[in-house]
Amino acid sequence: MRSIFSSQGAFYNGDCITGASVIPDNSVDLIITDPPYGIEGDKLDRHYNRDESFVTGGYVEVPSEQYESFTMDWIRQAERILRPGGSIYIVSGYTHLRHILNALHETSLEEINHIIWRYNFGVFTSKKYVSSHYHILFYAKPGGKRTFNTQCRFSLSEKDENGGSLNYQDREDVWIINREYKPGKVKNKNELPTALLSKIIQYSSNEGDLVCDLFLGGFSTAKTAIGLLRRATGFEISRTMFDAKAEEMQALVPGFLIDNAKTPGEPARKRTRKNWSQDETIRLKERYNELNQAGLSQKEITKQLQEEFDRGYWSIEKALKQSGIKPGRKKEE
Ligand SMILES: C[S@@+](CC[C@H](N)C(=O)[O-])C[C@H]1O[C@@H](n2cnc3c(N)ncnc32)[C@H](O)[C@@H]1O
Repeated sequence: MRSIFSSQGAFYNGDCITGASVIPDNSVDLIITDPPYGIEGDKLDRHYNRDESFVTGGYVEVPSEQYESFTMDWIRQAERILRPGGSIYIVSGYTHLRHILNALHETSLEEINHIIWRYNFGVFTSKKYVSSHYHILFYAKPGGKRTFNTQCRFSLSEKDENGGSLNYQDREDVWIINREYKPGKVKNKNELPTALLSKIIQYSSNEGDLVCDLFLGGFSTAKTAIGLLRRATGFEISRTMFDAKAEEMQALVPGFLIDNAKTPGEPARKRTRKNWSQDETIRLKERYNELNQAGLSQKEITKQLQEEFDRGYWSIEKALKQSGIKPGRKKEE
């Protein structure tokens, strides 16, 4: 299978069902995915003022009559690769929603929320209501601790001008988030907005976690994940789509979205990019060896070091590598 590898991700140009064997069981922290809708000739991707010639060709649809078995097959793979406690968010229109709900029902995955995403640029109609929502099915794999960062965007004490809780409002299950209008840029039809992806990634993962999208399309999930210092992986069956994004993915700077991410008490987070002093580097190496000797997993060590040194995942990884330690290696006897 053709692929792109970078330090933050591995992306595969292939079918996510037959190709999924490259991803080990129980290895993914979060799946966010937006499968094809199975509506040939659909108009859901059309909206006002958009020149369709900029929409990347090669979008692969699934014939309506195969949608049920196709859905069961990819959801089984999602269940397998998700770690116990890992979360999955599936974006769906209403046409084949029942197949996705039925398939989820056949797995061990447990429902957490059924979210309604209301967007702008609804599909214009004259004899019925305008369609302007998608479903987002939020499920989790049982058997482990689920990440849900309740105060990652608003603290419990933050209020709006009428005294309403901003944290409560942000966690309601109807989301009003605009689709992005990107004039003149090459894009996948139905690209998910960064604001929506950031919200999911902030609530349901931590820095350094692995985020997977089985239907990458324009790679928006992967880009947002890397922008928020997560690792990313996924599949896109269309070669045209895959090739259109390859260069951009390799050039991404991890953390490029961090300064604009919504964080409690302030409109944007200003992370100070502190340099490592010599003393800190020596101490980091000592602590790494102590935690390694104590038998902690590499993931637990990195998490602990992030807290102790008040740094992000990549900063710790980089400093360890510069001190000659290769994180991820088995501890020395
Ligand atoms: C709705 S789009 C995903 C859009 C994406 N979330 C974004 O923001 O750009 C679905 C994508 O799945 C791809 N696809 C269809 N069947 C696939 C399969 N079996 N494996 C992997 N990708 C597939 C399509 O080519 C399409 O790009």
